[in-house]
Amino acid sequence: MNSPLTLALPKGRLTDQVLERMETVGLKVEFEKRKLVAYDADGRIKIFLVKNADLPVYVNNGIAGLGVCGEDVLYEHGYPFVKLHTFDFGSTAMCLAGKKGARFSLNNGMIKVASKFTRFSRDYFHERGIPVEVIKLNGSVELAPVLGLTPYIVDLVETGNTLKANNLEVLEKLAEIRVHLIANPAYFKLRFQEIREFVDTVKG
Ligand code: PRP
Ligand code: MG
Repeated sequence: MNSPLTLALPKGRLTDQVLERMETVGLKVEFEKRKLVAYDADGRIKIFLVKNADLPVYVNNGIAGLGVCGEDVLYEHGYPFVKLHTFDFGSTAMCLAGKKGARFSLNNGMIKVASKFTRFSRDYFHERGIPVEVIKLNGSVELAPVLGLTPYIVDLVETGNTLKANNLEVLEKLAEIRVHLIANPAYFKLRFQEIREFVDTVKG
């Protein structure tokens, strides 16, 4: 028998949704407390819980052949993965946000934003001919306009609760961000048949 398929899952809010979906289609996976590696009950799939932003690194290096990842993170890395499936859960919106009531204006035609998503932010505004200064932050980006680091942020908005709690609001929705099942291209060729069966199972 072949070694189990390897699958990287993002640690965080998507984890439970993915594990629930897998359980629904008969692939039950349980992680022991604090443990980052687990197998499904049949031992056919080996699963790693990795930091969201690192997931493409594991898949690109073939450590995990497969991964579940949002378009936000995929865009920042830009690796040529095979997209096997788009999930019907986990979608969010990449938004430009700022202080509530503050007018969105392009001072001197230049916009200054803080974001975890620097590549997306640069490309988005540059493609529209708008010069942009992007300050890279690693999280809690909402603090930037509150503390005056930048007037605007580019960040994911799901429920809108974080913006609301910090007196911020969406100024413009920039992109819809969906969650995909991806594969390392070489791994996809090598384990094609098993991967196809796995994708069919996941689709339900
Ligand atoms: C994400 C995102 C927003 C928030 C959006 O942050 O960066 O801050 O969730 O969700 P909401 O609209 O439902 O409030 P996360 O909690 O992942 O933390 P981080 O930005 O500090 O990494
Ligand atoms: Mg956040």
